[in-house]
Amino acid sequence: MANLECNFAGIKSPNPFWLASGPPANTAYQVINAFKAGWGGAVWKTLGVPIVNVSSRYGAMSYKNEKIAGFNNIELITDRSLEDNLKDMKEVKEKFPNHALIASMMFEKKEEWHDCIKKCEDIGVDGFELNYGCPHGMCERGMGSAVGQNPDVCEKITSWVMEVAKKPVIVKLTPNITDITKAGLAAQRGGANAVSLINTINSVTGIDLDTMEPNPKVAGLSSHGGYCGPAVKPIALNMIAELTNHPDFHLPISGIGGIETWRDAAEHILMGASTVQVCTAVMHYGFKIVQDMTEGLSNYLDSQKMKSVLELSGITAKKLRKWEDLDLNYKIIASIDEEKCIGCQLCYIACEDGAHQAIALLKNSRVPKIKEDHCVGCNLCSLVCPVESCISMINVTTNKQKLIWKEHPKNPINIAIGTSLKR
Ligand SMILES: Cc1cc2nc3c(=O)[nH]c(=O)nc-3n(C[C@H](O)[C@H](O)[C@H](O)COP(=O)(O)O)c2cc1C
Ligand code: SF4
Ligand code: SF4
Repeated sequence: MANLECNFAGIKSPNPFWLASGPPANTAYQVINAFKAGWGGAVWKTLGVPIVNVSSRYGAMSYKNEKIAGFNNIELITDRSLEDNLKDMKEVKEKFPNHALIASMMFEKKEEWHDCIKKCEDIGVDGFELNYGCPHGMCERGMGSAVGQNPDVCEKITSWVMEVAKKPVIVKLTPNITDITKAGLAAQRGGANAVSLINTINSVTGIDLDTMEPNPKVAGLSSHGGYCGPAVKPIALNMIAELTNHPDFHLPISGIGGIETWRDAAEHILMGASTVQVCTAVMHYGFKIVQDMTEGLSNYLDSQKMKSVLELSGITAKKLRKWEDLDLNYKIIASIDEEKCIGCQLCYIACEDGAHQAIALLKNSRVPKIKEDHCVGCNLCSLVCPVESCISMINVTTNKQKLIWKEHPKNPINIAIGTSLKR
C-alpha cells in the first residue's frame, strides 16, 4: 500500500493534506478536531498586527445547482492576539507532535517578522508560511499581494526572514500577477525552502439587482475580495505547472486552490505539488472530507503501482508544453454513439452557431450526423452533450508527419531565418 507520509522541505507530516491558512485553522479547538479527522498538517490563520474585520465578509458564485462554484472573502488576517494564537498553537503541537504545524504570517517591518518567528519557534512550530498573497485590505497597507506582486520586495522580505528562521520557510504566492515564475524565482533567490500557491484571486462575486449593491454587503457597500473554491483550480494548476517547468526553479511546491476531492489533489500533485492545502472545501463540508481524500489518493497511487506521492509529482507538468510544440498534423473528429443519443440536438446548435457547422440534422431521425469533412475536432459538441460518453473524439489517421509551429514554414521566425540565409 502507498505510503502517504511526507517530508516537505524538511517539514514532516503523516499525509500531504494540510488545512490552508484561513478560518478552519484559526483555533486549537478546530485544528485538534482537524487532526483527529485525519488532516496531516495545518497552516495557521495568518498572524500579524491585530486586525479588525467587517461583517458580512463572504460571497459566493452560484452556478446552476452548485451553490458554491466559487467563493470570495473580504476577511483579513487573524483578529486574535498573538498571545492567544501562540497559546493555541503550542497546545496543538503538544497534542500532535508528529503533525505539521505551520505559522503563517504577514508583517511590515523587519523587526516584526523577526520577533514573531522567534516566538513561534519557541512554541515548537514546524515551519513558516509567508503570506505575500492577500489581495484585499493588507495590500493597501503595503503587505500581502503588494509584496507578492513585486519580485524585489518578495526577495528582500524573504531574506529578512531567512536571517533568523531555523525552521523551513514556505513563501505563499499571489496569483494576481502576470508571470508567477518571477515571484517564485524571487522567493528562491531570497532563500525560501518552498513555495505554496495559489492565494486568492481579485474578484467581485456578484451584484444584488434589487438594491444594486455588490456582494458581500457591508452597510450597502463592498470591496473587491479574494476568489477561491472549485472555480479557481484551473488557474492554480497552470501556475503550479509554470513553476514546475521553469528550468531555474527548484523548490518544492504546496498546491492550493479549488481542492475538494482526492482527484483535485492528485491533479495538483501531477502538476508538481508534493503537499496540498485546502480551505473552501473545509468551510463548505467540514473536516471529515479528508477521509475520502487520503483513501482515494492512496488507492490511486496503488493503482499506478506507485509507493509515494513524490513518484506522482510533476508527471503531467512535463506534458504541458508551449503551443508551438504541439503537432499540427494530429487530427481528431467527433463521433456520436447513436444508441446513447437522446436526440436533444444541443450538439447541433453549439456547432452550428458557435463552431464550424459540422453537424447535420436528418429528416427522419433526432440523432444528428457529424459532417466529418467539416469537423475540426474542437471538442465543443462533446462538452455540451448531456449524455456521458455519447460523443467521443476519435483519432483520424492523416499519414502526415508530425509538424509543430516552431518548425512550420509559415512561422515568421522561420521565414526570417530563410530570408536572412538567402541574403
Ligand atoms: C475566508 C478565507 C480566509 C482566508 N484567510 C487567509 C489567511 O489569513 N492567510 C492566507 O494565507 N490565506 C488565506 N486564505 C486563502 C486560502 O488559504 C487559500 O489560499 C485559498 O482560499 C485557495 O484555496 P481554496 O480554493 O481551497 O479555498 C483565506 C481564504 C478564505 C476563503
Ligand atoms: S448533444 Fe448528445 S444527446 Fe444531444 S443530440 Fe447531440 S449527441 Fe445526441
Ligand atoms: S468537434 Fe467541433 S467542429 Fe466537430 S462537430 Fe463537434 S463542435 Fe463541430
